[in-house]
Amino acid sequence: MPFATVNGIRLIYDIRGQGIPVLWIHGFPLGRWLWDPQVEALGDIARSIAVDLRGFGGSSVPEGPYMMDGYAADLRGLLDILGIDRAVLAGLSMGGYVAFAFYAAYPERVRGLILADTRHQADTPEARANRYAVIERIQAEGTRAAVEAFLPRLFGGTTQRERPELVETLRRKMMTNPAAGLIGALQAMAERPDRTGLLPSIQVPTLVIVGEEDAVTPPDVGRQMAEGIPHARLVVIPRAGHLANVEAPEAFNEAVRAFLQELVE
Ligand code: MLT
Repeated sequence: MPFATVNGIRLIYDIRGQGIPVLWIHGFPLGRWLWDPQVEALGDIARSIAVDLRGFGGSSVPEGPYMMDGYAADLRGLLDILGIDRAVLAGLSMGGYVAFAFYAAYPERVRGLILADTRHQADTPEARANRYAVIERIQAEGTRAAVEAFLPRLFGGTTQRERPELVETLRRKMMTNPAAGLIGALQAMAERPDRTGLLPSIQVPTLVIVGEEDAVTPPDVGRQMAEGIPHARLVVIPRAGHLANVEAPEAFNEAVRAFLQELVE
């Protein structure tokens, strides 16, 4: 399994395909496996790097607190090691929060943005308090507490009704994340800044994708984001929830392929 030593920690990543470099950033409580349906299907157009963020999957679990800026610095270090000057950043949900932090710090390293099922706003006070409540439950019960808190909201109604086996497969993968890393990520999400002010300054082509049944970051949020970013387009994926890329991979990949094709033309 390839790994890179960055900022004193070990990051596990997969690298596959040929073409424009795309750095895939997973959400919470997920891992680099989230992007399997993209890495394979887009292998003829994208050189995909799918990484486990610090504290997830096989990557190191350093002491917290974690911050979005810290995840972004790790990813910049990974691009340096791979000799990639500019990449398309594709982030889903928490991965989108990391992509915003990356763009804010290193805009010259970004060739395009794919913001999937994410939001630009910071947490409300209620959402923040809820994250700290989940942290307490993880401290008492371990990873299971995070998976139980998040799993019901991640999938759209269509997937929950028609594909319970997909929900179960992903639940098992989520359970492989270490509790300490999940606590660090919840803190980083709770303390992340609002990015509304960043949107008008984003100068790279941007694809905003959202599942039409996404209850965590609903289509209206995606619409606002796409309206706020100068060169953005919005694609709403039917019959998909918050994990649109695994719930409806064909439609998701079609939107990404069209976006990448325009970038390389
Ligand atoms: C995620 O999917 O990364 C999380 O649900 C995002 C969040 O809780 O804000």
